[in-house]
Amino acid sequence: MTSDAPAGWDPAQYRRFAEQRSEPFHDLLAVLQPARIRRAVDLGCGPGELTALARRTLDIDEIVGIDHDPAMLAAAAEHAGPGVRFEPGDIAAWTAPADHDLVLAAASLQWVPDHAAVLARWTNALAPGGQLAVQVPDNADQPTHTVAAALAEREPYRSAFGSAGPPPDPVRHHVLRPEEYASLLWDLGYVTQTVRLHVYPHVLPSSRHVVEWVRGTTLTRFRRTLPADLYERFLVDYERELLAVLGRREPHFFPFRRILLLARRPG
Ligand SMILES: C[S@@+](CC[C@H](N)C(=O)[O-])C[C@H]1O[C@@H](n2cnc3c(N)ncnc32)[C@H](O)[C@@H]1O
Repeated sequence: MTSDAPAGWDPAQYRRFAEQRSEPFHDLLAVLQPARIRRAVDLGCGPGELTALARRTLDIDEIVGIDHDPAMLAAAAEHAGPGVRFEPGDIAAWTAPADHDLVLAAASLQWVPDHAAVLARWTNALAPGGQLAVQVPDNADQPTHTVAAALAEREPYRSAFGSAGPPPDPVRHHVLRPEEYASLLWDLGYVTQTVRLHVYPHVLPSSRHVVEWVRGTTLTRFRRTLPADLYERFLVDYERELLAVLGRREPHFFPFRRILLLARRPG
């Protein structure tokens, strides 16, 4: 399986929950060990404000945000400036000579397969003493994901996907268990590591906002693969079926499980 194909992201939709989405990012930065950071990379940077925030918060000399989605890169360009730039690239293949003090990836690793190989490539980019900071969602068993997967198996959607079938849920297929990440980090030579499972207690104005949230993330794979009119119909069916499971609440409590990985190379 190849990594997620570019195009299909809607930066404005994604940003609707910018405040909640930035919480794990702040947590990642907070757990980093204090160090001078000359060179950093933000893999799967999305709309770029968090890349710029990382530079300011950690006083990074130079940070490059990498993404493969043209719309996200266009949005990120607004945050370019001294010490911050953005480039197109595939985070599944990304690596560099061992000259980075920080490799950061927030809510992006889940989109690519084979985390053992990808984390090995990212690790090769770290200088001695360099740090890896990664956050992935771990919510594939939640109704937001299971309802979408079940709906995609039904007509008229199933036929529209053709012989390839519905696009698989990357979180279900790619994300490992926390202890598997811990073992991977050990195998990659990290002697200092923190792997943390964290449930973020998001409170959204209403249950309908959960639909708006996932439209900006996990549903992008259906937006990309279905004809526009069928995607609109998919959204209507999805909302009805999801709300039948979640109920209709105002406000809606939306617990969101994420895995945070922090590791430092010896040196
Ligand atoms: C959920 S957004 C996260 C954005 C940002 N890091 C944040 O925390 O808000 C995931 C981003 O990863 C990017 N992405 C997914 N797969 C990628 C790949 N193989 N190469 C480059 N970027 C990728 C998407 O285009 C998207 O912008």
